[in-house]
Amino acid sequence: MVAKTVPVDPFDLVVFGGTGDLAARKLFPALFHRYQAGQVPEGARIIGAARGEMTQEAFRHHTRTAIEQFVDSTDRPKADVDGFIAMMDYVQVDALSNAGWAELGNRLDGHADRVHAFYLSVAPGFFGPICDRIREAGLVTPATRLVVEKPLGRDQESARALNRQLSETFEEGQIYRIDHYLGKETVQNLMALRFANALFEPLWNSHHVDHVQITAAESVAVGKRGAYYDRNGAMRDMVQNHLLQLLCLTAMEPPAKSSPDAVRDEKLKVLKALKPLTVAEIEEDVVRGQYAAGSDVPSYLDEAGDPNSRTESFVAMKIGIENWRWAGTPFYIRTGKRLRTRASEIVIRFKDAPHSIFDAGVGKLLGNELVIRLQPDEGIQLRLNIKDPGPGGMRIVSAPLDMSFAEGLGRSIRMPDAYERLLMDVVRGDQTLFMRGDEVEAAWAWIDPILEACAEGAAAPHTYEAGGDGPSDSLMLMHRDGRRWREIGA
Ligand code: NDP
Ligand code: BG6
Repeated sequence: MVAKTVPVDPFDLVVFGGTGDLAARKLFPALFHRYQAGQVPEGARIIGAARGEMTQEAFRHHTRTAIEQFVDSTDRPKADVDGFIAMMDYVQVDALSNAGWAELGNRLDGHADRVHAFYLSVAPGFFGPICDRIREAGLVTPATRLVVEKPLGRDQESARALNRQLSETFEEGQIYRIDHYLGKETVQNLMALRFANALFEPLWNSHHVDHVQITAAESVAVGKRGAYYDRNGAMRDMVQNHLLQLLCLTAMEPPAKSSPDAVRDEKLKVLKALKPLTVAEIEEDVVRGQYAAGSDVPSYLDEAGDPNSRTESFVAMKIGIENWRWAGTPFYIRTGKRLRTRASEIVIRFKDAPHSIFDAGVGKLLGNELVIRLQPDEGIQLRLNIKDPGPGGMRIVSAPLDMSFAEGLGRSIRMPDAYERLLMDVVRGDQTLFMRGDEVEAAWAWIDPILEACAEGAAAPHTYEAGGDGPSDSLMLMHRDGRRWREIGA
């Protein structure tokens, strides 16, 4: 069962790069699920656009194959797939020439009053040229929306240039910058947990929180993406966007309302309050790593195709936030490829009880821990100290109160993929879960000096075991502060 849905008005979604990997693996399966849920109305159109010559029939066949490959067989009755692909159309368009633009205009012409969303699922070098041609072809109306996805620049300067380029054609209110982590169910639940409950907010500050841990661990390696990845590394691929966004949502002040700009203003304030790291602090507080070869898997250097690469496949960092709420409470973040398991979570570790009324022998009173699990098994866990049950006197043990979101309401719910929510938000015109241009620039502004120092030799990558927890120095990062990471996938 999937949660209830509100249908939207008929729309046209043009997917530039509609024959590519992202469209096949993520976008079309997500739209298919929304169609199945009854949210995509009769008359909506999904138009693939790319250079390849393809008939409408061939594109529908291509989409059917993608659905068959990327949607579980039990979730795709033939009638649903038939109905979905009947919405698909294809236009041959070249981002870099005039070829196909008039035809695209013709296809959109009859429906000028509806939402037209242009999803740029193409390499970022095409973003500017495609926007220019959309404008020159007269395809921009107030109901036009543009969707772009990372990489959104590779430093502050290029991010600024990209923002300028997009703004030549679109208003900020028309630009939807996707960070798919913001569409994850638990990330939205983080806002509900914090701002729909009076329980946590009074404790959500440095008086009560000892530290915060954010982990996004992956068991997969860089694999075939070696060349792309080696130009970016974990800092650009994961930290600048996904991890900093999670940090912002954890640390931000309560927005006055859940409107897009109220939320994004608060996230921006957090990004601007991140403590800049000096080169000496980068040596101390940033740990970078590269995975070694395992018994039957290649090393990072082999997959990157460069034996001298200094690009990191793992990062752990200690981050300070310089504001009243968080001064003195460090945020530790880590992410890496080829780790023990796939597990992403946010851990709020509260301070120890200030005084124990119990005898020393009852066991250690550990600080309470709130674990917000993003994946797998989205949910929350609160670790409390309780009496070990039984007659043998008072012994205190730490035990979890655990709730899986899929089962928390007493009924089993399929957890939607992040793109399902985000794509429908584009159609609905809700930018809350999308990054504003100034946020992207602020995140780069903080990270640029770290990237520069690393490029010049600071925090040289340490080799770590494939299938492990990352470099031992990342464990030391917390040990030396008298703290420890929660075990990956615990
Ligand atoms: P692919 O290489 O698989 O697909 C690229 C698409 O762009 C193809 O449909 C290609 O078709 C089209 N294309 C290339 N040149 C032109 C052109 N001149 N005019 C019009 N269309 C063109 O890339 P991905 O789908 O993997 O990635 C797309 C973007 O999404 C990239 O920026 C990537 O970084 C980003 N991204 C991808 C993720 C993924 O999981 N794949 C995840 C997150 C971001 P044709 O050659 O026929 O024109
Ligand atoms: C992408 C990164 O943005 O996020 C990938 O480019 C990474 O390297 C992926 O694997 C992780 O996403 P998820 O949803 O699987 O945690």
